[in-house]
Amino acid sequence: MMRGPSPYLVLPVFFLLFCFTASCNELRRVYIVYLGEHKGLRTGREILEDHHSLLRSVKNSEEEALNSVVYSYKHSINGFAALLTEEEATKLSEMEQVVSAFPGEARWSPHTTRSWEFIMQEEGLQGWELEWMTSKAKLGKEVIVGVVDSGVWPESQSFGDAGMGPIPERWKGICQEGDAFDSSNCNKKIIGARYYLKGYEAYYGSLNRTYAYRSPRDHDGHGTHTASTVAGRVVPGVSALGGFARGTAAGGAPLARLAIYKVCWPIPGPNPNIENTCFDADMLAAFDDAIGDGVHVLSVSIGASGVPPKYSNDGIAIGALHAAKHGIVVACSAGNDGPAPATVSNLAPWMITVGASSIDRAFDSLVLLGNGVTIKGQTVTPYVLKSSELYPLVYAGDAVVPGTPGNVSGQCLPNSLDAKKVRGKIVVCLRGSGLRVAKGLEVKRAGGAAIILGNAVANGNEIPVDAHVLPGTAVSSDDAIAILKYINAARRPSAKIGSARTVLGVTPAPVMAAFSSRGPNRVEPNILKPDITAPGLNILAAWSESSSPTKLEDDHRSVKYNLYSGTSMSCPHVSAVAALLKSLHPDWSSSAIRSAMMTTAAVVNTRGAPLTDAAGQAAGPLELGSGHVRPNHASDPGLVYDASYEDYLLFACSSIGAQMDPSFPCPETSPSPSDLNYPSIAISDLNGSVTVRRTVTNVGPGATRYRVTVTEPTGVSVSISPGVLSFKRVGQKKSFSVTLKARGTPGKVYVAGSYTWSDGAHVVRSPIVVSVA
Ligand SMILES: *[C@@H]1O[C@H](CO)[C@@H](O)[C@H](O)[C@H]1NC(C)=O
Ligand SMILES: *[C@@H]1O[C@H](CO)[C@@H](O)[C@H](O)[C@H]1NC(C)=O
Ligand SMILES: *[C@@H]1O[C@H](CO)[C@@H](O)[C@H](O)[C@H]1NC(C)=O
Repeated sequence: MMRGPSPYLVLPVFFLLFCFTASCNELRRVYIVYLGEHKGLRTGREILEDHHSLLRSVKNSEEEALNSVVYSYKHSINGFAALLTEEEATKLSEMEQVVSAFPGEARWSPHTTRSWEFIMQEEGLQGWELEWMTSKAKLGKEVIVGVVDSGVWPESQSFGDAGMGPIPERWKGICQEGDAFDSSNCNKKIIGARYYLKGYEAYYGSLNRTYAYRSPRDHDGHGTHTASTVAGRVVPGVSALGGFARGTAAGGAPLARLAIYKVCWPIPGPNPNIENTCFDADMLAAFDDAIGDGVHVLSVSIGASGVPPKYSNDGIAIGALHAAKHGIVVACSAGNDGPAPATVSNLAPWMITVGASSIDRAFDSLVLLGNGVTIKGQTVTPYVLKSSELYPLVYAGDAVVPGTPGNVSGQCLPNSLDAKKVRGKIVVCLRGSGLRVAKGLEVKRAGGAAIILGNAVANGNEIPVDAHVLPGTAVSSDDAIAILKYINAARRPSAKIGSARTVLGVTPAPVMAAFSSRGPNRVEPNILKPDITAPGLNILAAWSESSSPTKLEDDHRSVKYNLYSGTSMSCPHVSAVAALLKSLHPDWSSSAIRSAMMTTAAVVNTRGAPLTDAAGQAAGPLELGSGHVRPNHASDPGLVYDASYEDYLLFACSSIGAQMDPSFPCPETSPSPSDLNYPSIAISDLNGSVTVRRTVTNVGPGATRYRVTVTEPTGVSVSISPGVLSFKRVGQKKSFSVTLKARGTPGKVYVAGSYTWSDGAHVVRSPIVVSVA
């Protein structure tokens, strides 16, 4: 399995480092110069020469041009990453063959560790269609899933290869060696592994190997967790620390092959254990290799907060476009910046953007207050209080050392608690700023007996569970307020915390996670994002043994499986379903696979009622996308909305007014972005009426007739023509138009509806979201 590193991985790193420690670094940073796709068949040498000659045109010498290269992308993506001044980048961006030249910043980070608020748990896929998964688990064995993340802990039982057949012939990747990682760490499950850090090191300087392996080995845990959620083997009898969530851990496609692309690295600074980042330049190199290596699916639990870049300046969007061109399905996390609107990231229509929702499991522990009131907390803390007596209870805000700012006094930030006031007591801390698990650490440091972590009002009733370093539990914001009232009223407040147990069958489920990022789409409001939601709250999966379950530096525990939450956890669930669909339907395009998942997604919960958010309100398409993924239904969707690479390029012409590929000039008039053949409809600023076109392909059993039904958004009429589609054979396409007319709703509000095609056996649903101008 060992092959040498590909030639361009050994570009002049030393020179880069030299350059960054010397004076030459001042005005330069790594820019990505994106050129579209490669024309015709060219050798690696020809491509490199091309890139060099472009660079030569803005640099003073041949040598300088050569030495400024960080990466040359050569498989599908045509472009390079290079150290440039702003002026050089501008010059390049003005050249005809250049699509864009943008700085690859440290703006990308994995969609959990950035905000440690979302750590938690659960076991594999229990609670959603496990039966389908196991009955068809043999499928997927020829499918290769690339995981673009923080690497892998290869010794985990989840990555064993017992009984697995030979590596699929299409695989062309490598097992790259490095720190604590050699070719023996790849097997028939982890068939390849690579790492990318030239973009990272160009920015931060040399990697500090105290906090990361300079190899595909995962120090952090995030990449191990996501990889095992996609394709971990079936491992019975695992649990989180303390025995929580005991059961069988399994990825969604347990026989699929994994290809590991490590692109995320620790951010130097106060929390290198916790904060990770992933650079555009490194991710593009990973995408380019993955395309050349022969993966079928890419799982990317990475994204950005803040103002999203347009598609031509977005490394993940560019990488995903080229992947889609090669038939690769790309699933990305939607982000953890909810519940505020317009927070969703990964906004291109050629990827699947995945939100996160809960499963039907809780970890109940009762809090008994001195006044006899009981409150239900949630915890996976593996410790219990020594005594079953009541303990004195104190609010952290009443026990801070002098000088603690008033606005953070209840937050249990590091070194804020007065040991004299908390020793031996149960301490109530509030969420807000700081890491949840670090608050527990602070209570322990100051000698507290236990922590009760209260939600802030903004967190509502969605209770995160943590493997705290001391006894404790977490409560909703209503309960936190009740506890604080009791503390204020009682002369000697006291409490005790019962031990926790895992409870299954909790309803309603799923519930949209509060943290899951919401639409509308800030780059192209006429494309609905997120696309779909999947389990992302309290997921149990494999972990890195060099990281503690809380990832805190002062936590020296080590675990093989860990509970974790975020859209980072929901994304690999969808990647796994994509792998199974790819195996069932090898001829389906990436857009057909996405369509199958979207049009069959559930919009009701296990009670049969409409899906809700964490505040108990009905959740609509801006939260859910099309709904909660249902693998079994997705395997037989009846109709699919297909789209080609050219369709996407045409979409880019109209959406961002730019070509994503110089070999595909934009026509003088492009169709509206809403006309992209997408399985959902979003219309921004509807003024009067608009008509969009869609085309469906029959992938059902043969001759059949579909009828449409419509649920109109409030204040918008929807007519679909024709209302009946008759198919004579599999593969046949039929088009229809959807006309939306505003009835004059004032103000810019989003209203939602849907339309559904059905032939009696299949239900093909598309959400509609409209804002009225
Ligand atoms: C790496 O981090 C460790 C721990 O913080 C520190 O002691 C060491 O000096 C760092 N090494 C380098 C090369 O910066
Ligand atoms: C608390 O107040 C200080 C000073 O006004 C401010 O800088 C800080 O961001 C505030 N912290 C929080 C968590 O609001
Ligand atoms: C709606 O369209 C009409 C007619 O084209 C135009 O006069 C009006 O300004 C538009 N309104 C908005 C809010 O765009």
